[in-house]
Order: sequence, then structure tokens, then C-alpha cells
Amino acid sequence: MNFEEVYNLPVLVDERGSLIALDKISGLPFDIKRVYYIFNTKPEASRGFHAHKNLHQMAICITGSCSMVLDDGFSKSTLEMNSCSVGVYLPPMIWHEMHNFSDDCILLVLASDYYYEDDYIRDYTEFKKAAKIR
Ligand code: TYD
Repeated sequence: MNFEEVYNLPVLVDERGSLIALDKISGLPFDIKRVYYIFNTKPEASRGFHAHKNLHQMAICITGSCSMVLDDGFSKSTLEMNSCSVGVYLPPMIWHEMHNFSDDCILLVLASDYYYEDDYIRDYTEFKKAAKIR
């Protein structure tokens, strides 16, 4: 897997501090239709364990830290997320898992579409099969 999925987000810095604005013009590879965030994650809990058929997402660890496992069906990589100026792009057909959430972790996710359960592949065997025939 290559690491094109890691985006250094554009930080606007002035004497007051920093600001990041995200849209297609500033380099996000999709238009945002939905935003959600994950917080108060219990110690030892992991999340994700799915891929999407069509959805594009970007995950940003706003505060705290967690790790993200990415799997395209052929190889896996693990990214440590601990910077609010780094986004991890999750295009369709990337199996992803989030682990090792710190107590204060807030994981922000920008998504290209509304929530549709039928866009999810939650079975890893089904995902591997679908990844191979793409
Ligand atoms: P789930 O997909 O299990 O979260 P994760 O990918 O972090 O493991 O979602 C948890 C619950 O929230 C599940 O009942 C579906 C619901 N949900 C929505 O209603 N809208 C959303 O945008 C998302 C992401 C989840």
C-alpha cells in the first residue's frame, strides 16, 4: 500500500494561532455531505472493522491519539494518528480499524455521503473477495 492517503492539511497561521479549513478547493478529494466524530472511547475498545463500497472519508485526530489499520485487500499498514493537521484519506474499498484510543481522543470524520448501511462491507472474507475482483 502506498501512503498517498496521508494528507498534511493546510494550516493558516497568524499571530493569534492556527486554523485549518477543509473543502475541495483546499485539497480534500471529495465534497463533504456528513461529519461525525468518535469520542469517549472505552479503554481497550476498537472501532471500524469495515470497508465502504462507494463512500470517501477523511479521518482527523483532533485531540489525543489512536492508531488506524488500513488494508486494501493485498497489504496492511498501521498509522499512528496524533496530529490535528494530518488527515487520513479513506477511499472506497479500504478496510479500516481504529485501535489504541487515548482517553482524550476525538476522531473527526468527514464523509462524502449520508449514512447508508448498505454501503458497508462488514465481513472481512467478503471484503477480501471483493478487493480481488476489482
Ligand atoms: P459503527 O459503524 O459501528 O461505528 P464504527 O465504524 O466507528 O465502528 O456505528 C455505530 C452506530 O452509529 C451504528 O448504530 C450506526 C450509527 N451511525 C449513524 O447513525 N450515522 C453515522 O453517520 C455513523 C458513522 C454511524
